[in-house]
Amino acid sequence: MKFNIALLPGDGIGPEVTAQAVKAVEAVCRRFSHEVSWHFAYAGACAIDRFGDAFPEETYRTCLEADAVLFGAVGDPRYDNDPKAKVRPEQGLLAMRKKLGLYANLRPVETFSSLVHKSPLKEELVDGADFLCIRELTGGMYFGEKGILDGGDTAYDTNIYHRFEVERILRQAFEFARRRRSHLTVVDKANVLESSRLWRRIAQEMAPLYPDVTTDYMYVDNASMRLITGPKFFDVIVTENTFGDILTDEASVVSGSMGLLASASIGEKTGVFEPVHGSYPQAAGKDIANPLAAILSAAMMFEYAFGLMDEGRAIREAVSESIDSGFVTEDLAVEGAARGTAEVGDRVASLILK
Ligand code: IPM
Ligand code: MN
Repeated sequence: MKFNIALLPGDGIGPEVTAQAVKAVEAVCRRFSHEVSWHFAYAGACAIDRFGDAFPEETYRTCLEADAVLFGAVGDPRYDNDPKAKVRPEQGLLAMRKKLGLYANLRPVETFSSLVHKSPLKEELVDGADFLCIRELTGGMYFGEKGILDGGDTAYDTNIYHRFEVERILRQAFEFARRRRSHLTVVDKANVLESSRLWRRIAQEMAPLYPDVTTDYMYVDNASMRLITGPKFFDVIVTENTFGDILTDEASVVSGSMGLLASASIGEKTGVFEPVHGSYPQAAGKDIANPLAAILSAAMMFEYAFGLMDEGRAIREAVSESIDSGFVTEDLAVEGAARGTAEVGDRVASLILK
């Protein structure tokens, strides 16, 4: 096959980690005789610097024309402590999600046996945990009406959901559950929020259509506790945008490092594949960032955008082998044995070709 991939490295460690994902993709293409062409575009702070827009029209067009988007991270400390900033790098990410209709964000959490000791949680609690968080990505408070009143002394954000938005994400969740261990947990705050009651009502309507899936419902406060006290309970979790944002950061501690968490965002147009971690500006340019989340996002790209499971597996196996042999960056390495970002990328690429 021949793929056109839009490459949006973004800011901070984004360019370093996506460069390693590119190596993995090229290695897979060589091994399985595919052809790939890359289409670079700006997003985030680097796009603001150049175009005054965090997700310029040109970048949007590059994404639309591509078969998949490989994304790094956006964010810059220049904007973090300036609540008055007119443009922010994060707006680029939100604009991309909205414009590409990326309503389903898939964040799988797995554990690697050789790393369970890295989790701050007890080994026996996390060893074998394996679940998929599905976060609604284009609705809720992130995109609802927001505003400032009283000359800045009052502010509001609206958590609004429409039936079609809830139905389409739940449909994805039931389908994914079906392909896994057929256990779906719908996370909401239906004891307090009207929008959550809508979610729960629609989920209860749909559940009988998936009789093979065991569906349960959990309040988000309880879910945040269960993720830590018993993550093996979960198979597929589905939730709204803001809850999903918070729960997936929390879930990342189960796998031992945020540097391992990959994601896919899919929906109406081109899918986007990106590490869950942010731009980590303190580490930018130091060759210490963990590239595995970006590389695993490339594996998700083969699986979800191209339906090429063997290619995805080849990347995953190479990543596991690199981890098992201790060939990892400082966040995962034993004292004194850390490898650089590029070295880990080279190793994974060569293991793919082995
Ligand atoms: C994420 C990030 C983004 C979000 C930020 C950078 C806007 O935290 O992808 O989880 O809140 O969705
Ligand atoms: Mn987040």
